Amino acid sequence: MTTKKTPAPAAVKKPAEAAPKKKVQQPPQLVRGMRDVMNPEWPYRDKMYEEAKRLAEDYGYERIETPILEETSLFIRGVGKVTDIVEKEMFSFETSGGEKVTMRPEGTSPISRAYLQHGMVNRPQPVKFWYWSSMFRHERPQSGRYREHTQWGCECIGDASSILDAQQAFLAWKLLDVLGIPSIVHINSIGTPESRANYRDALVAFFRTKRHKLSEDDKKRLLKNPLRLLDSKEPGMEEMKAEAPQIVDWLDEASKTHFMQVLEYLDEMGVPYQLNPYLVRGLDYYTRTVFEVFPVSEDPEVAKLALGGGGRYDILIEQIGGKPTPACGFGLGVERVAARLREINPALADKSSERDVFVAQLGDQGRKKAFAIFEALRADGIRTAATLSKDAIKAQMEVANKCGAKWAIIVGQKEVLDGTAIIRDMDSGTQETVDSKKIVQEVRKKLK
Ligand code: HAM
Repeated sequence: MTTKKTPAPAAVKKPAEAAPKKKVQQPPQLVRGMRDVMNPEWPYRDKMYEEAKRLAEDYGYERIETPILEETSLFIRGVGKVTDIVEKEMFSFETSGGEKVTMRPEGTSPISRAYLQHGMVNRPQPVKFWYWSSMFRHERPQSGRYREHTQWGCECIGDASSILDAQQAFLAWKLLDVLGIPSIVHINSIGTPESRANYRDALVAFFRTKRHKLSEDDKKRLLKNPLRLLDSKEPGMEEMKAEAPQIVDWLDEASKTHFMQVLEYLDEMGVPYQLNPYLVRGLDYYTRTVFEVFPVSEDPEVAKLALGGGGRYDILIEQIGGKPTPACGFGLGVERVAARLREINPALADKSSERDVFVAQLGDQGRKKAFAIFEALRADGIRTAATLSKDAIKAQMEVANKCGAKWAIIVGQKEVLDGTAIIRDMDSGTQETVDSKKIVQEVRKKLK
């Protein structure tokens, strides 16, 4: 029996379809207001870090790094509910576990929290910390204002002496001085919460009579946080402020004496300062001394950007749940200081790529040996460069010249076989052959 095979149906040719368009995905971009810290910025930050660390340690401050995340309530209680930072600028969110957390906008409240949490009240007082930490503030991005910035800061907790207020302003100014950045400390006293409350009433009474001249923002300040009116840069404010009552006239006697002592110490320490009756600072925890450090510059845009700020904060620890504990400190903005350093001392960047010795190689055997020689020199603390992936000696010598090397070590096939290396004087071009085992010694001799 024969069966008839039914022919397989011919594949139906579909009309040619346009291939589905691949969605072009944009590569992820920086979040607005955030920045990558890259060269040429690093040598200036590194220099600042090196000097800041030395200064803080010399003055007996110990390092601390608190976590980036803190309970949101810490800043509400510490920095203050009616401040720009808490009202508008915090990166806050709820974790999947339902905790309300905030990326620290400043370092003083977290360090005070740590002081309490670790029972540091039982240590000899004052307890002194320094930090180099990133801070997060959702500010309107503009020059010198970033949503993530770094601060070098010091905090001195557990002592009310006026010399310590002066020491904070001194350290902030001294670091800038060591870096060659001329600066001036603007300083004021805002007294105790009680004397400030009296002053606040006087200020409100004064500005009420001028209400019709105030901007909408300033009207809000008058209601919610009248001291901030003294910070206002709105048109017409300068003239009004000049007639307004001044906080120094409302200080209690003890705060006045304290302030006079701080100024005397600053005179003694040679810190240039200027009394600024309008300086109140944007954080609620301050008492008595407040200060800001400004660069001295002929460019008004540069001169108005504070490089740092600080003061005494005797009420903060109590506000966050501890016993009344006097304290003072400051923070310097790393990005702002690094930018200023770059303007003043641009050559610093070139120095960071400078090398004394360059190791060059010829051929694969030479490359292996060059790798070992480079590592031996580097480990001995000799500033050495190499471009191990390059073959042509000409290209290698160009790099050697660029990094300012005074000596080049050259290892080729012959030197590998002989167990030697060539040392070349990059200026005169003279060369000598040395035992490769003694290369570190030989180079050290030449660098002396
Ligand atoms: P602050 O004045 O808010 O004080 O900040 C200190 C410094 O950090 C400023 O003078 C500025 O140089 C820099 N800075 C602040 N915000 C930014 C930003 N968005 N972008 C770039 N730089 C910025 C405090 O934070 C206090 N915790 C200082 C302190 C310590 N008071 C007592 N102890």
